Amino acid sequence: MAVINFRSQAKFDKGISVVLVPSDHVRSKHYNFSHRELSAIVNSLSSNRQFTGADGELFPVSLKKNLVLLAGIGELKKLDGTGLRTTLRKAFLSGFVKKQKDIEIIPHDSTESTIKAVIEGYVIGTYGWKKYMTPPIEEKQTKEKHVVIVAPAKAGYAQMVAVCEGVTLARDLVNDNADVVTSTHIESVIRKLIQGHKNAKLEVLNKRELTQKGLDLHLAVNKGSQKEPKLIIVKYTGDPSRQNYTAVVGKGMTFDTGGLNLKPTGHIETMRTDMSGAAAVVGALKNVVSLRLKKNIIFAVGIAENAIGSRAYKPGDVYKGYGGKTVEIGNTDAEGRLVLADAIAYLVKNYKPARIIDIATLTGACVVALGYDYCGLVSNNDDFAREVIHASNESDDRAWRLPSYPQMKEYIKSQYADIKNVGLGKGAAGTLTAAEFLRQFTQDTPWVHLDIAGTAYVESAGRLYYGFGATGFGVRLLTEYLKEN
Ligand code: BES
Ligand code: ZN
Ligand code: ZN
Repeated sequence: MAVINFRSQAKFDKGISVVLVPSDHVRSKHYNFSHRELSAIVNSLSSNRQFTGADGELFPVSLKKNLVLLAGIGELKKLDGTGLRTTLRKAFLSGFVKKQKDIEIIPHDSTESTIKAVIEGYVIGTYGWKKYMTPPIEEKQTKEKHVVIVAPAKAGYAQMVAVCEGVTLARDLVNDNADVVTSTHIESVIRKLIQGHKNAKLEVLNKRELTQKGLDLHLAVNKGSQKEPKLIIVKYTGDPSRQNYTAVVGKGMTFDTGGLNLKPTGHIETMRTDMSGAAAVVGALKNVVSLRLKKNIIFAVGIAENAIGSRAYKPGDVYKGYGGKTVEIGNTDAEGRLVLADAIAYLVKNYKPARIIDIATLTGACVVALGYDYCGLVSNNDDFAREVIHASNESDDRAWRLPSYPQMKEYIKSQYADIKNVGLGKGAAGTLTAAEFLRQFTQDTPWVHLDIAGTAYVESAGRLYYGFGATGFGVRLLTEYLKEN
């Protein structure tokens, strides 16, 4: 993790200064850096059409003893936050910047949204998963980078950096091996996060408690596994004067083989990431604790491993979970909704949250519908959905609402149980029927479901401002929502 500081004046005294230059500024010769010599250089580059400030254009110049990287960000009126982060990532990963230990960043303005983009473009944009790579000798010797952003220091900026640390934690949890990030591991991470915080109370339901209390849907999913299933709940009381809790619940499938409806080659390889919802909840917990938010929040992660073997749960069997409804197992690969259904039912009954957000890599259908840049959002409450979408726009973890309507419940009816865990077949509206299954356990508590199957992980490098692997999607969205509501 880089050390990030702020100062109000550009000094051009670091190994490299990255200067963000909108093309409008180049055209009007109106620069954001009050440096005569640099202005003269840019002017001459501009008249020779060597540098125009077009989006993504990089041009290194030397200024006395120092290196300056001009980074074009295009026209201001076309600039959007996602694009700016993406351009910044490109600049920060360029050879000019990569080699430097000390970096000064000079943004084109110091609005909050620009500074946030710079911080996230740096921390999120330059993240890489290197645990299992033998590093070259020179890389071993590189010490932590020091970054200074030219902007008048505000308390909010340090918070933005802190939020990125939650994203990094989630990404590390998702990227690491399935047999490293087990339920036991996740529990110990959570215990460390809340250690010493008296306003955070932990409840852990292991196999024994899940059995005693009848969370049989959760247990069914884990039957083929040697590992301990766990429902881990943290009740965080930041505002003791109120009794109004928001619950955030994450799907934590530490590996999803598909069960006896085994996933084929081409689909199974990334299934250690099927705990990305839980990772987002853990990342948000880290942030809420470190920001000491004065809000009341219940964090919950339902953790299991969907394994195969003679003990594994079987297609066609019926289970009754904590919510009291009987469920026909139409497909053992539709396991996430089973674990979440029990978690939601348990929270509703025992914690009575005012509202629930669940976050899960739930359906391949969501990837078909929305691709990789927007997660799917389904809700039973318009106001709540609007608030979460607002937080989504603010945080750049983008969400798009999909419908939920009364007739949907017909599609998950079973011939011989109350409901079944699959819908229309052939993948038709797979995201909606999965959401409908969850809705049945909410007891009309205002609820938002986030399907992050497409957004949690990058298989081919370089999507938006992420490298290869986990994106940490949802951490910023949850943190932003919890901060503002
Ligand atoms: N974990 C998967 C969904 C998934 C797919 C996440 C691709 C990330 C990338 C989930 O458990 C699953 O397998 N869902 C099935 C449901 C179907 C059997 C009704 C699916 O989407 O195919
Ligand atoms: Zn599955
Ligand atoms: Zn799954």
